[in-house]
Amino acid sequence: MTDFYNKILDNNKQWVASKLAIDPDFFKKLKDTQSPPLLWIGCSDSRVPANEIIGAQPGEVFVHRNIANMVIHSDMNLLSVLDYSVNILKVKYIIVCGHYGCGGVKAAMAKSSYGIIDNWIRHIKDSYKFRKTDIESIENEKERFDRFVEWNIKQQVLNLSVTSLVQQAWSRGQELSIHGWVYGLDTGLVKDLDVTFSSHDAIRDSSVYKLEFAEQ
Ligand code: CO
Repeated sequence: MTDFYNKILDNNKQWVASKLAIDPDFFKKLKDTQSPPLLWIGCSDSRVPANEIIGAQPGEVFVHRNIANMVIHSDMNLLSVLDYSVNILKVKYIIVCGHYGCGGVKAAMAKSSYGIIDNWIRHIKDSYKFRKTDIESIENEKERFDRFVEWNIKQQVLNLSVTSLVQQAWSRGQELSIHGWVYGLDTGLVKDLDVTFSSHDAIRDSSVYKLEFAEQ
């Protein structure tokens, strides 16, 4: 057993003790139900732990993470999380949170092959293609990387807004707002990218992505 492995088992015991010291019923209250107000879609990166950076407690955040916080509308994992959180848990907020210095985004901007992950990074390359002219007009390399990280997050918020699940929730009048955030690894701070959508009106009627639903 490594030191790290034993340490995390000990950490768990200490964490339980610290919670029980404040509230002896802490775990009893969490046992039977959950009603988190937030679905978090973030990057798998170990440096961006969802609950910790927003000071959220157990029971407050439903979480989906993948490489580069992608919203791929045919990803059954993402769709299952989205369905359960929107239709059963009735979350009121969804935040897509990316981060500067994202390795997945960086890989997508270059040509190296990394094996099977190339097929996931391909989704990020598709996002790059939308913005190729804008991105490549930025001369400074760090600036170019930072802007594409932000653009990719915005693209994923747009992808989320046109999923059938989100459109259906909005069309029946469910309260649900979706947001894009970027996290700074070197500051710990998040920035709201001001791409917030909260109703079906956000999708233009002329858009081919807009869905009409039969009366429910
Ligand atoms: Co990342």
